[in-house]
Amino acid sequence: MPKKIQTVRGMTDILPRQQVFFERVFQAFRVTARAFGFEQIETPLVEEAGLFARAIGEGSDIVTKQMFAVSRLADSPRQARTKGTDDEKGELVLRPEATASVVRAYIEHGMHTWPQPVKLSYIGPMFRYERPQAGRYRQFWQAGVEIIGEGDASIDALTMLVGWQTLEKLGLGEQLVISVNSVGDKACRPRIRKQLAAHFEKHADALCEDCQERLKTNPLRILDCKQDSCRKIAESAPELIDLLCEDCRAHFRMTLEYLDELGLPYELSQRLVRGLDYYTRTVFEIGALNDEARQSSLLGGGRYDTLIEEYGGRPTPASGFAIGVERVVELIKTKKMPSVQPLTPQVFLIQLSEGARKAALRVARTLTKNDIQVSSGMTKGSLKAQLRSADRSKAPISLIIGQREAFDATAIVREMDDGSQETVAQSAILETIRKRLSQK
Ligand code: HAM
Repeated sequence: MPKKIQTVRGMTDILPRQQVFFERVFQAFRVTARAFGFEQIETPLVEEAGLFARAIGEGSDIVTKQMFAVSRLADSPRQARTKGTDDEKGELVLRPEATASVVRAYIEHGMHTWPQPVKLSYIGPMFRYERPQAGRYRQFWQAGVEIIGEGDASIDALTMLVGWQTLEKLGLGEQLVISVNSVGDKACRPRIRKQLAAHFEKHADALCEDCQERLKTNPLRILDCKQDSCRKIAESAPELIDLLCEDCRAHFRMTLEYLDELGLPYELSQRLVRGLDYYTRTVFEIGALNDEARQSSLLGGGRYDTLIEEYGGRPTPASGFAIGVERVVELIKTKKMPSVQPLTPQVFLIQLSEGARKAALRVARTLTKNDIQVSSGMTKGSLKAQLRSADRSKAPISLIIGQREAFDATAIVREMDDGSQETVAQSAILETIRKRLSQK
């Protein structure tokens, strides 16, 4: 028996019935981002591994465990690294996130010469080799924004507002909360690390294996560990807010004042540090209120004021977020919302002979070219059967072309609600349909 073909573990097909939910999330995001003046950017799915290693952190889970390498099948992974045109560029990977790519594009295309801040939005699939479970996939979609070129605290609040408003548009406002924290900047981070490391050193033996490693690479991450033993030790760790430098504390205070001003519900989350190293100052996530342990965020983001400089650009502050689209889809599916109607055609085409089918195809071309949605079975069914399909499609008008109409170059226009009919020349169909649709 041939081997069963199926999707790769952790990756899923998004079938037509699911598309409506995805489309709803994309639409809410697009409308909101556009209202706030974001322009769209699309970056490649494949980038150099080094781009992410530098941004997300050499010691982060994403970089050490979760990136999918991309190479030509004919090359062994080793050869791919050392041979061919990509050799100087290093290993290629599927992007695990898009912030690093957008920053690369900002520098590569000299966007510092554009009016600042540059506000970009994107929607696309990301890839992380994670242990698949509910809400955690190896290919998942993100919808995100980046605001590059402005460091004011009002931008941190605005970034959160864009994410919040997108989710609010989807009817989720009541059940969500923003978790927010500050992780300090270049000035205070060394001190924060030192003090946290000193605390965790004392309990090193009780830390999980990963956290023992984190103790060496980035002790802040231990705050975020989900293991019970590490959580307990983290509870007695010094509070980040007390370790911030004066500037970071003032920036954070202002951010919270803006959030108050906007009336956005938030909670201070001392343990929130996020899994990517590029963050400075504000970090945030939006999750469901009933997810008390804040295990699964719908959206995550924050400020990254040093990343552009680290890539060789000028010092440029920036901030952004990304929504996990599958997680939002799961949530809106469980909500009682106005049911999503499948696409309703505006015109249903019925044809009753081979000659009529040709005419129907021509008519379909004319109508669709003019953005009128057309449906048709193009089957050999009887008039009665095709009228039943027309009814089911909910199209307000159907067009019937039989042998006679095909011969006369006419068509019967039928109003589906009352069954009234009129014969019109095929050359006048576009005009007739437009007029009738405008009266609906
Ligand atoms: P992130 O927290 O890694 O941040 O991902 C953002 C969101 O993507 C998460 O809150 C979650 O909803 C979703 N997500 C992450 N991993 C998975 C997965 N394996 N399966 C399903 N959904 C997932 C970033 O990616 C940053 N680039 C966000 C950002 C933009 N920060 C600044 N600008």
